[in-house]
Amino acid sequence: MGIENKPRSHLPFRAGYQRTTCRTAHAKLPCFLACNAVRATLTSVNGQLGSILMTMHVVVTGASSGIGEAIAREFLTRGARVTLVARRRNLLERIANDASSGRTHVIVADLANPSAACSWVQDAEKALGPIDVLVNNAGVQIVMNADETAWEDAEQMLQLDLHTPLRLTQHVLKTMIARKSGTIVDIASMAAIAPTPGMFFYNAAKGGLAAASEGLRAEVRKHGVHVMTVYPGPVKSEMEARGRAAFEDRVAARYAPTGSAETLARMIANGVERKRTRIVYPRIYMLARHWPNATRWVVDALTPPVKSREK
Ligand SMILES: NC(=O)c1ccc[n+]([C@@H]2O[C@H](COP(=O)([O-])OP(=O)(O)OC[C@H]3O[C@@H](n4cnc5c(N)ncnc54)[C@H](OP(=O)(O)O)[C@@H]3O)[C@@H](O)[C@H]2O)c1
Repeated sequence: MGIENKPRSHLPFRAGYQRTTCRTAHAKLPCFLACNAVRATLTSVNGQLGSILMTMHVVVTGASSGIGEAIAREFLTRGARVTLVARRRNLLERIANDASSGRTHVIVADLANPSAACSWVQDAEKALGPIDVLVNNAGVQIVMNADETAWEDAEQMLQLDLHTPLRLTQHVLKTMIARKSGTIVDIASMAAIAPTPGMFFYNAAKGGLAAASEGLRAEVRKHGVHVMTVYPGPVKSEMEARGRAAFEDRVAARYAPTGSAETLARMIANGVERKRTRIVYPRIYMLARHWPNATRWVVDALTPPVKSREK
């Protein structure tokens, strides 16, 4: 019987599992049954691995819509207890109502307000226990020419997108280091790798968050704390729709690869389980990390102008 072994690198057991393919027709049925048995076993073992999250308290900031909502729902599906933080209570409560009771805690907070950045952490820990995973996701985006942006708006965005995640991280790190476990997930942006014309302040915020996140990883690894940095390119959401509408309509921008919040959320939950260091999504934007000069040229040449404020 002709047997061919191919490694399946995307499965959790990289070294151990080999795909078995039969070349001859008469051997196809037993081979098919054997393959399915192996797959079923792997799925059930993988299911148990997924249950690592069942003991965890995950905090998601900006959980009321878009990527944050998808992340919260994904962790809830995998059995975690989730604290949902944002300003729109009704949206947070809708997510909480969809989950089984006792597994969610709703915090209504304006994270752009420095005094509210960390004040709710104690309440969340009292409700669901020590924080195991902090997902710094809440954010807004300003798509506007630098000279036209009001400084007050920029300052508020920098507070929400940069200062608050840094403060929250520093706050929860203390207890994570003491407990020798924990995960920080920072939702940065492709704007950190390939800054986009028309997003002067947003580029600065996401560049700062990504740099802090990447640098922290090695610092806290020895304490048992893991840091994962996430670089979303365009992902369908309220923010993405608003951002797109702020640019002039051009063919190149219209056809830019755009992902879904649900797929990204699955990748993030898998990444937490498997201690991935970074995620770039949609995956095609990985090219930007490998060809920075070509990327700079493409982004400068193809980004449409921001719509003038007079229009
Ligand atoms: N979608 C993309 O294409 C894309 C690409 C790269 C990076 N990202 C990043 O992904 C993250 C999520 O964005 P999204 O696309 O999912 O946008 P979204 O749908 O607009 O969600 C933003 C979330 O942040 C929360 N938020 C906004 N201002 C807040 C404040 N002052 N205090 C507390 N929460 C606040 C919002 O909740 P409330 O309004 O209820 O407060 C909402 O839950 C952001 O950090 C964004 O920069 C998104």
